[in-house]
Amino acid sequence: MRLCINIDHIATLRNARGGHEPDPVAAAAVCEAAGADGIVVHLREDRRHIKDHDVWKLRETVTTKLDLEMGASEEIVRIALEVVPDLVTLVPEKRQELTTEGGLDVAGQQERLFEIVHRFHAKRIPVSLFIDPVAVQIEASRAVGADMIEIHTGEYAEAKTPADARRHLEAIILAAETGKRLGMSVNAGHGLNYTNVGAVAAIHAIDEMSIGHSIISRAAFIGLDRAVREMGALVQK
Ligand code: PXP
Repeated sequence: MRLCINIDHIATLRNARGGHEPDPVAAAAVCEAAGADGIVVHLREDRRHIKDHDVWKLRETVTTKLDLEMGASEEIVRIALEVVPDLVTLVPEKRQELTTEGGLDVAGQQERLFEIVHRFHAKRIPVSLFIDPVAVQIEASRAVGADMIEIHTGEYAEAKTPADARRHLEAIILAAETGKRLGMSVNAGHGLNYTNVGAVAAIHAIDEMSIGHSIISRAAFIGLDRAVREMGALVQK
Protein backbone atom coordinates (compact mmCIF):
# COMPACT_ATOMS: atom_id res chain seq x y z
CA MET A 1 0.00 0.00 0.00
CA ARG A 2 1.50 3.29 -1.11
CA LEU A 3 0.70 6.62 0.53
CA CYS A 4 0.63 9.76 -1.59
CA ILE A 5 0.27 13.11 0.11
CA ASN A 6 -1.83 15.95 -1.29
CA ILE A 7 -0.06 19.18 -0.35
CA ASP A 8 -2.58 21.67 -1.80
CA HIS A 9 -3.30 23.14 1.61
CA ILE A 10 0.31 24.12 2.19
CA ALA A 11 -0.29 26.41 -0.79
CA THR A 12 -3.63 27.55 0.69
CA LEU A 13 -1.76 28.71 3.79
CA ARG A 14 0.95 30.38 1.74
CA ASN A 15 -1.58 32.22 -0.40
CA ALA A 16 -3.38 33.54 2.70
CA ARG A 17 -0.54 36.08 3.04
CA GLY A 18 0.46 36.25 -0.61
CA GLY A 19 4.10 35.53 0.13
CA HIS A 20 6.37 32.50 -0.19
CA GLU A 21 5.77 30.67 3.08
CA PRO A 22 5.07 27.85 3.65
CA ASP A 23 6.55 26.59 0.39
CA PRO A 24 4.82 23.53 -1.17
CA VAL A 25 8.13 22.49 -2.72
CA ALA A 26 9.78 22.33 0.70
CA ALA A 27 6.71 20.51 2.05
CA ALA A 28 6.98 17.89 -0.67
CA ALA A 29 10.59 17.21 0.32
CA VAL A 30 9.59 16.79 3.99
CA CYS A 31 6.80 14.37 3.00
CA GLU A 32 9.18 12.31 0.88
CA ALA A 33 11.80 12.19 3.65
CA ALA A 34 9.04 10.99 6.02
CA GLY A 35 8.27 8.07 3.71
CA ALA A 36 5.59 9.36 1.34
CA ASP A 37 5.45 7.38 -1.89
CA GLY A 38 4.21 10.30 -3.95
CA ILE A 39 3.13 13.92 -3.97
CA VAL A 40 -0.26 15.04 -5.27
CA VAL A 41 -1.19 18.58 -6.28
CA HIS A 42 -4.36 19.87 -7.88
CA LEU A 43 -3.83 22.68 -10.36
CA ARG A 44 -7.30 24.18 -10.32
CA GLU A 45 -8.59 26.43 -13.07
CA ASP A 46 -8.90 29.32 -10.61
CA ARG A 47 -5.39 28.59 -9.18
CA ARG A 48 -6.80 29.00 -5.69
CA HIS A 49 -3.96 27.08 -4.06
CA ILE A 50 -1.31 25.45 -6.26
CA LYS A 51 0.11 27.79 -8.94
CA ASP A 52 1.73 26.89 -12.24
CA HIS A 53 5.23 27.66 -10.94
CA ASP A 54 4.69 25.19 -8.06
CA VAL A 55 3.95 22.42 -10.53
CA TRP A 56 7.04 23.18 -12.62
CA LYS A 57 9.27 23.33 -9.56
CA LEU A 58 7.79 20.11 -8.14
CA ARG A 59 8.44 18.40 -11.46
CA GLU A 60 12.12 19.17 -10.90
CA THR A 61 12.32 18.29 -7.23
CA VAL A 62 9.94 15.41 -6.49
CA THR A 63 11.93 12.18 -6.52
CA THR A 64 9.11 9.72 -5.76
CA LYS A 65 6.10 10.30 -7.98
CA LEU A 66 4.31 13.50 -8.96
CA ASP A 67 0.57 13.06 -9.44
CA LEU A 68 -1.06 16.09 -11.06
CA GLU A 69 -4.74 16.19 -10.20
CA MET A 70 -6.76 18.26 -12.66
CA GLY A 71 -10.05 19.01 -14.31
CA ALA A 72 -10.16 17.96 -17.96
CA SER A 73 -10.19 21.51 -19.37
CA GLU A 74 -8.11 22.16 -22.47
CA GLU A 75 -5.93 24.76 -20.72
CA ILE A 76 -4.92 22.41 -17.91
CA VAL A 77 -4.53 19.41 -20.23
CA ARG A 78 -2.00 21.42 -22.28
CA ILE A 79 -0.04 22.39 -19.18
CA ALA A 80 0.03 18.77 -18.00
CA LEU A 81 1.27 17.62 -21.40
CA GLU A 82 4.17 20.08 -21.09
CA VAL A 83 5.00 19.30 -17.47
CA VAL A 84 4.83 15.50 -17.96
CA PRO A 85 3.99 14.44 -14.39
CA ASP A 86 4.36 10.78 -13.42
CA LEU A 87 0.59 10.44 -13.29
CA VAL A 88 -2.41 12.64 -14.03
CA THR A 89 -5.62 12.19 -12.09
CA LEU A 90 -8.69 13.59 -13.81
CA VAL A 91 -11.38 14.93 -11.51
CA PRO A 92 -14.60 16.85 -12.01
CA GLU A 93 -14.06 20.49 -11.13
CA LYS A 94 -16.52 23.20 -10.28
CA ARG A 95 -15.39 26.73 -9.44
CA GLN A 96 -17.66 27.23 -6.43
CA GLU A 97 -16.90 23.94 -4.67
CA LEU A 98 -14.75 23.88 -1.52
CA THR A 99 -13.15 20.63 -2.62
CA THR A 100 -13.79 17.98 -5.28
CA GLU A 101 -17.43 16.89 -5.01
CA GLY A 102 -18.29 13.45 -6.34
CA GLY A 103 -16.51 11.38 -8.94
CA LEU A 104 -16.01 12.04 -12.62
CA ASP A 105 -18.88 10.98 -14.88
CA VAL A 106 -16.74 8.84 -17.17
CA ALA A 107 -19.69 6.92 -18.63
CA GLY A 108 -21.33 10.19 -19.70
CA GLN A 109 -18.33 11.54 -21.62
CA GLN A 110 -16.47 8.50 -22.91
CA GLU A 111 -15.57 9.92 -26.30
CA ARG A 112 -14.00 13.07 -24.88
CA LEU A 113 -12.11 11.21 -22.16
CA PHE A 114 -10.90 8.57 -24.61
CA GLU A 115 -9.33 11.35 -26.65
CA ILE A 116 -7.72 13.01 -23.62
CA VAL A 117 -6.36 9.71 -22.26
CA HIS A 118 -4.92 9.01 -25.71
CA ARG A 119 -3.12 12.40 -25.73
CA PHE A 120 -1.55 11.65 -22.35
CA HIS A 121 -0.57 8.14 -23.42
CA ALA A 122 1.11 9.57 -26.50
CA LYS A 123 3.42 11.36 -24.04
CA ARG A 124 3.73 8.19 -21.91
CA ILE A 125 1.81 9.77 -19.03
CA PRO A 126 -0.39 7.26 -17.18
CA VAL A 127 -3.92 8.40 -16.37
CA SER A 128 -6.04 7.85 -13.28
CA LEU A 129 -9.76 8.70 -13.15
CA PHE A 130 -11.37 9.77 -9.89
CA ILE A 131 -14.74 8.01 -9.79
CA ASP A 132 -17.50 6.98 -7.43
CA PRO A 133 -17.51 3.29 -6.49
CA VAL A 134 -20.08 2.40 -9.15
CA ALA A 135 -19.72 -0.46 -11.67
CA VAL A 136 -20.73 1.55 -14.74
CA GLN A 137 -18.02 4.17 -14.05
CA ILE A 138 -15.35 1.53 -13.50
CA GLU A 139 -16.21 -0.24 -16.75
CA ALA A 140 -16.26 3.08 -18.61
CA SER A 141 -12.84 3.93 -17.12
CA ARG A 142 -11.44 0.74 -18.60
CA ALA A 143 -13.15 1.46 -21.91
CA VAL A 144 -11.51 4.91 -22.23
CA GLY A 145 -8.08 3.43 -21.50
CA ALA A 146 -7.45 4.53 -17.90
CA ASP A 147 -4.42 2.95 -16.22
CA MET A 148 -5.78 3.54 -12.75
CA ILE A 149 -9.00 4.44 -11.00
CA GLU A 150 -9.11 6.46 -7.82
CA ILE A 151 -12.16 5.49 -5.81
CA HIS A 152 -13.91 8.40 -4.13
CA THR A 153 -14.05 7.58 -0.41
CA GLY A 154 -15.92 10.76 0.57
CA GLU A 155 -19.29 9.13 1.26
CA TYR A 156 -17.63 6.50 3.45
CA ALA A 157 -15.70 9.22 5.30
CA GLU A 158 -18.83 11.28 5.88
CA ALA A 159 -21.12 8.41 6.89
CA LYS A 160 -23.23 9.30 9.92
CA THR A 161 -23.70 5.80 11.33
CA PRO A 162 -21.51 2.68 11.51
CA ALA A 163 -24.06 0.86 9.30
CA ASP A 164 -23.80 3.57 6.68
CA ALA A 165 -20.01 3.47 6.82
CA ARG A 166 -20.11 -0.31 6.38
CA ARG A 167 -22.39 0.01 3.35
CA HIS A 168 -20.08 2.55 1.70
CA LEU A 169 -17.03 0.47 2.59
CA GLU A 170 -18.55 -2.56 0.89
CA ALA A 171 -19.12 -0.51 -2.25
CA ILE A 172 -15.45 0.57 -2.15
CA ILE A 173 -14.29 -3.06 -1.75
CA LEU A 174 -16.41 -4.20 -4.68
CA ALA A 175 -15.23 -1.29 -6.82
CA ALA A 176 -11.58 -1.96 -6.01
CA GLU A 177 -11.94 -5.64 -6.88
CA THR A 178 -13.74 -4.81 -10.12
CA GLY A 179 -11.04 -2.29 -11.08
CA LYS A 180 -8.35 -4.88 -10.42
CA ARG A 181 -10.20 -7.57 -12.36
CA LEU A 182 -10.37 -5.22 -15.34
CA GLY A 183 -6.59 -4.77 -15.18
CA MET A 184 -6.33 -1.30 -13.65
CA SER A 185 -4.40 -0.13 -10.61
CA VAL A 186 -6.59 1.13 -7.80
CA ASN A 187 -6.14 4.24 -5.69
CA ALA A 188 -8.55 5.58 -3.06
CA GLY A 189 -8.96 8.95 -1.47
CA HIS A 190 -10.95 11.89 -0.19
CA GLY A 191 -11.92 12.57 3.41
CA LEU A 192 -9.61 9.89 4.82
CA ASN A 193 -8.19 10.67 8.25
CA TYR A 194 -6.35 9.06 11.16
CA THR A 195 -9.48 7.33 12.45
CA ASN A 196 -11.20 6.13 9.28
CA VAL A 197 -8.18 5.17 7.14
CA GLY A 198 -7.62 1.70 8.64
CA ALA A 199 -10.63 0.00 7.08
CA VAL A 200 -9.73 1.31 3.62
CA ALA A 201 -6.04 0.47 4.02
CA ALA A 202 -7.07 -3.14 4.78
CA ILE A 203 -8.61 -3.60 1.32
CA HIS A 204 -6.20 -5.81 -0.62
CA ALA A 205 -7.25 -4.62 -4.05
CA ILE A 206 -6.23 -1.03 -3.25
CA ASP A 207 -2.63 -0.18 -4.23
CA GLU A 208 -2.41 3.43 -3.21
CA MET A 209 -4.08 6.19 -1.21
CA SER A 210 -4.13 9.95 -1.68
CA ILE A 211 -4.61 11.88 1.54
CA GLY A 212 -4.31 15.60 2.10
CA HIS A 213 -6.44 17.65 4.46
CA SER A 214 -6.17 15.50 7.58
CA ILE A 215 -2.38 15.22 7.32
CA ILE A 216 -1.81 18.93 6.73
CA SER A 217 -4.23 19.73 9.59
CA ARG A 218 -2.38 17.44 12.00
CA ALA A 219 0.92 18.87 10.81
CA ALA A 220 -0.15 22.26 12.20
CA PHE A 221 0.06 20.72 15.68
CA ILE A 222 2.80 18.11 15.53
CA GLY A 223 4.78 18.98 12.40
CA LEU A 224 4.59 17.61 8.87
CA ASP A 225 7.24 14.94 9.33
CA ARG A 226 5.43 13.29 12.25
CA ALA A 227 2.01 13.72 10.66
CA VAL A 228 3.17 11.86 7.53
CA ARG A 229 4.94 9.14 9.53
CA GLU A 230 1.87 8.54 11.71
CA MET A 231 -0.37 8.19 8.65
CA GLY A 232 2.24 5.97 6.98
CA ALA A 233 2.23 3.66 10.00
CA LEU A 234 -1.59 3.43 10.00
CA VAL A 235 -1.70 2.71 6.28
CA GLN A 236 0.88 -0.06 6.61
CA LYS A 237 -0.85 -1.59 9.67
N1 PXP B 1 -8.10 12.55 -4.18
C1 PXP B 1 -8.71 13.50 -4.92
C2 PXP B 1 -9.08 13.17 -6.32
C3 PXP B 1 -9.00 14.77 -4.38
O1 PXP B 1 -9.64 15.69 -5.13
C4 PXP B 1 -8.59 15.04 -3.07
C5 PXP B 1 -8.82 16.41 -2.51
O2 PXP B 1 -8.01 17.34 -3.16
C6 PXP B 1 -7.93 14.03 -2.35
C7 PXP B 1 -7.72 12.79 -2.92
C8 PXP B 1 -7.50 14.24 -0.95
O3 PXP B 1 -8.63 14.44 -0.15
P1 PXP B 1 -8.47 14.94 1.33
O4 PXP B 1 -7.82 16.29 1.27
O5 PXP B 1 -9.86 14.98 1.85
O6 PXP B 1 -7.57 13.95 2.02
